[in-house]
Amino acid sequence: MALLFNSDAERAKIFAAEFARELPSLPFVTDAGSVNPAAVRYLLTWTAPSDLERYVNLEVLFSVGAGVDQFALDRLPKTVKLVRMIEDGITRMMQEYVTLAVLALHRDLPGYLGQQSVGDWRGRPVRQATERRVGVMGLGNLGQAVLDRLCPFGFPLCGWSRSPHEIPGVTCYNGDEGLSDFLATQDILICLLPLTAETRGILDASLFTKLPSGAGLVHAGRGPQLVTGALVAALDSGQLSGAVLDVTDPEPLPADHPLWRHPKVIITPHVASVTQPETAAKTVIANIRRHEAGLDVVGLIDRDRGY
Ligand code: NAP
Ligand code: GLV
Repeated sequence: MALLFNSDAERAKIFAAEFARELPSLPFVTDAGSVNPAAVRYLLTWTAPSDLERYVNLEVLFSVGAGVDQFALDRLPKTVKLVRMIEDGITRMMQEYVTLAVLALHRDLPGYLGQQSVGDWRGRPVRQATERRVGVMGLGNLGQAVLDRLCPFGFPLCGWSRSPHEIPGVTCYNGDEGLSDFLATQDILICLLPLTAETRGILDASLFTKLPSGAGLVHAGRGPQLVTGALVAALDSGQLSGAVLDVTDPEPLPADHPLWRHPKVIITPHVASVTQPETAAKTVIANIRRHEAGLDVVGLIDRDRGY
């Protein structure tokens, strides 16, 4: 029985040290060629290897990241559990990133960056936080953590999800039937949805028209959820006032892509949050213990929902 780790060498060292300390009975293997594929019970990887079929006794595939859209679910035998990464490093970094982005839009940083480029010393209109409504699409681990971090600023907060949620201090909407009402009241919209068949292309022209005029967008979900042309049109017409994008389609965004130079867009290269090996290793070890004790693992993907 072994765990096969498929990621970079630097992370491998940190994961391996934690496994050696906490789970010494489980061989932690980083070289796929050095292990009998039949002995691999756990795979910890960002993407599924092309020869996944060799691991005939695989029980759990742990994603190194929070998202699992990179795995083709139909290639994974039904007996294999697919588990997304829920760990403090990812959560904390996403809280930081979204707070940074929301405050940048709230205080009109794109406008000031434009003024700086031409040496224009002039104050821009400002709204109080209590008058800036902020809403999150996706009330999962990250969406809820972000709302928690935004709360002290005093923004009126909302959230939208597939199923109903009750979160103190947050007005919650759900389902297709709740989407239009949710959108109608968001001055800054944050996307933290997983990429599924339902959410692909969800940030489109029709969605942008349902937002109040001049709303801002923070997109930290997955690139293919955004229809880029619709975003550019909404920014150019003034329907949207600014966007902070951590994810794009494609990634990397080609250097000559017009989004890079759009004056109302701030782009970061998919770095909002990055799995931290020290805390992630602890999470995976705890999950292996749960799995071996016959308990539910944390972060199990529901294959029917796709997240
Ligand atoms: P999660 O815990 O699985 O939460 C997903 C949320 O999205 C849930 O609230 C779910 O609703 C909602 N949802 C899913 N499909 C929906 C639909 N069709 N309509 C409405 N709501 C829907 O996921 P997470 O850990 O918060 O992560 C979210 C995503 O963030 C990841 O999948 C990944 O794509 C992205 N991410 C990006 C970065 C980055 O660096 N940019 C880093 C980490 C993660 P229910 O609550 O009703 O199930
Ligand atoms: C990063 O995008 C992740 O899914 O962890």
